[in-house]
Amino acid sequence: MALMSKQNSGRTGARDRTGARDILVWDPLVRLIHWSLALTILLNGALVEEESKVHEWIGYIALGLVGIRLVWALIGPKHARFSAFPPSPGRAIRYLRDVLSGDRTVHLSHNPLGALMVYNIWISVIVIGSTGYMMTTISFFGVDWVEELHEVAFGWLLFSVALHVAGVAFDSWRSGVNLVRSMVSGRKAIPKGREIE
Ligand code: HEM
Ligand code: HEM
Repeated sequence: MALMSKQNSGRTGARDRTGARDILVWDPLVRLIHWSLALTILLNGALVEEESKVHEWIGYIALGLVGIRLVWALIGPKHARFSAFPPSPGRAIRYLRDVLSGDRTVHLSHNPLGALMVYNIWISVIVIGSTGYMMTTISFFGVDWVEELHEVAFGWLLFSVALHVAGVAFDSWRSGVNLVRSMVSGRKAIPKGREIE
């Protein structure tokens, strides 16, 4: 069993009878942070009274989750690192061009367009959390632009998450790899003979 999981986590991974490979890409911390962050956004955006202490604490948890993830992007495993998904508009455009020409390369970390979305989501959460905190300070309490920025950044985050989920669905279809499954089990099942990046 130990041997099998070791084989499975290698770059080449174990092959099943069809020749597909199962590669461990998302460690447990990345997965835990992902689904916890999604939960905090759902709670604060839709379920929790907005002017409550609970809202504030959930907001700080969201900030903390992003903070831990950013540190993990410096010291964590390969696919979780900044170096695996650099923010590069040039690479994102090249990815789009490749996609349009029918390319089916599988990305072990985020694809270049997904990478831009990930940074956008993290920045949005940081802006929402920081303006939330500012509203509790004497200097910024009742200051209109702070409240407005909190609200506008939340709207932007919702729009981004909608695009994010659509992007996940699209790239799963394009690449033939179930990306949602990978954010649950940690593994991407790479179809036989597929280019990997
Ligand atoms: C408020 C809701 C959500 C937020 C804020 C969010 C945010 C994020 C972030 C920040 C990442 C990057 C993960 C990392 O590298 O640590 C990510 C990746 C991912 N998310 Fe979400 N997400 C949300 C909802 C969802 C939902 C509903 C799904 C499933 C349908 C989903 C599926 C995924 C997948 C599959 C990835 C990895 C994509 C890849 O392989 O590149 N997310 N998400
Ligand atoms: C990062 C996660 C957070 C999300 C998703 C979030 C989301 C929201 C939303 C949707 C509203 C309602 C905006 C409106 O339509 O007026 C709101 C209001 C508010 N939030 Fe947050 N928030 C977060 C973090 C925080 C934090 C960390 C604090 C404070 C420590 C905070 C304090 C407030 C306050 C005081 C209001 C009421 C503002 C008003 O009356 O206009 N939020 N938040």
